[in-house]
Amino acid sequence: MLDIKKCIWLTGASTGIGKSLALKLANEGFVVAASARSVKNLKKLEEESKSLKGSIKSYPLDISSQEKTILTFNKIKKDLGSIGTVILNAAINKPINAKNFSSKELKNLMNVNYVGTTNCLDPVIKDFIKKKSGKIVVVASLAGYVGFPYSSGYCPTKAALINLCESLRADLEQYNVIIQVINPGFVKTPMTDKNDFDMPFLISSEKSTEYIYNGLLTNKFEIFYPRIFAYILKILRILPYFLLLPLLKSMLKSRK
Ligand SMILES: NC(=O)c1ccc[n+]([C@@H]2O[C@H](COP(=O)([O-])OP(=O)(O)OC[C@H]3O[C@@H](n4cnc5c(N)ncnc54)[C@H](OP(=O)(O)O)[C@@H]3O)[C@@H](O)[C@H]2O)c1
Repeated sequence: MLDIKKCIWLTGASTGIGKSLALKLANEGFVVAASARSVKNLKKLEEESKSLKGSIKSYPLDISSQEKTILTFNKIKKDLGSIGTVILNAAINKPINAKNFSSKELKNLMNVNYVGTTNCLDPVIKDFIKKKSGKIVVVASLAGYVGFPYSSGYCPTKAALINLCESLRADLEQYNVIIQVINPGFVKTPMTDKNDFDMPFLISSEKSTEYIYNGLLTNKFEIFYPRIFAYILKILRILPYFLLLPLLKSMLKSRK
């Protein structure tokens, strides 16, 4: 469920999945507090929302700064009133294989995708528990199901987010707070435009928004899509290693 009377805080709103979702939410009449680092893109989004039923207000933020994240959260509450839903979507990706393995790069990915998300969760959980209401939505990925080749930087960050949501779901329910995890497959965005391999079941960001929006109207724990791809990966992740590892090895070959 989504509370139309309260605003929605959405991170990673400047491009791709986040941008498309921000416009859909504003079109449905919601007030969206949109965060990302790019001030220019957020301003453009604000302009675009002027003809819509709801509105988009920009709150530029680098989620890797805990201090700035708390300040931004408080500013949104001060400007727009109570926050009913937060959608934590901001992330980065960089292919990392054995040859270019770098703990510095891995740290950077973990610092934005995982720690950055928890920086946002910090003030949100405190606030939602206090008022005994709210919805938290974390965008992870089907890539968090299995450690795919060349993704030793990205996959662990998404696996960690899924695990975090699993751990918090029942606990937050005690305070009438809902947490959902979104696990998309390949979506055409600036992030995937950099990929130099075939992306099975690739969908548009508009299609992705449709899946997310419909999922947000429920309280289901996991929103996953596209269905067939997700079910294939769900089977993959329960395979014993003697079956899974040769499959991962074949993916390595297909990307050479
Ligand atoms: N596209 C896919 O196939 C796919 C599949 C599964 C999951 N996902 C997930 O979906 C989410 C959106 O990805 P996307 O494909 O839409 O990629 P994208 O177009 O690159 O969007 C990423 C967003 O995150 C923001 N961001 C990056 N670093 C940030 C930081 N430090 N602080 C604040 N904002 C930051 C970016 O804005 P700025 O650069 O302006 O900060 C941008 O708005 C991500 O969590 C991604 O992992 C994507």
